Amino acid sequence: RAAKRLYHPKVIDHYTNPRNVGSMDKSLANVGTGIVGAPACGDVIKLQIQVNDKSGIIENVKFKTFGCGSAIASSSYMTELVRGMSLDEAVKIKNTEIAKELSLPPVKLHCSMLAEDAIKAAIKDYKTKRNPSVLH
Ligand code: FES
Ligand code: FES
Repeated sequence: RAAKRLYHPKVIDHYTNPRNVGSMDKSLANVGTGIVGAPACGDVIKLQIQVNDKSGIIENVKFKTFGCGSAIASSSYMTELVRGMSLDEAVKIKNTEIAKELSLPPVKLHCSMLAEDAIKAAIKDYKTKRNPSVLH
């Protein structure tokens, strides 16, 4: 009842049918892993990208989220968004874009922020793996 008022149909769609749930081997050289938590609520997103080393295109994306419906929907939508993007494009995605698509209310904005943090962390991890001397 409360959930129906709180959640937009697009959130419920992603929540009940999340895209790209799963894990990849984080030891693979072309896999970047981002794990981020929201201090406000303790929810956690793990987002992984598999990148084509030559083109810099994100070819595969997986996520696992321990959190509220909005966090799950935000990460599910994020995986759809970044697949096929270059790293430069993906790093520019703003949480407001996700919040708008999912019609998140203000109290749920931090859930979409978590998804933005997660893709940025995954990209950073991939780049650090590729070129440890630059980032360390
Ligand atoms: Fe953690 Fe949202 S408060 S589920
Ligand atoms: Fe905390 Fe959604 S309520 S991530």
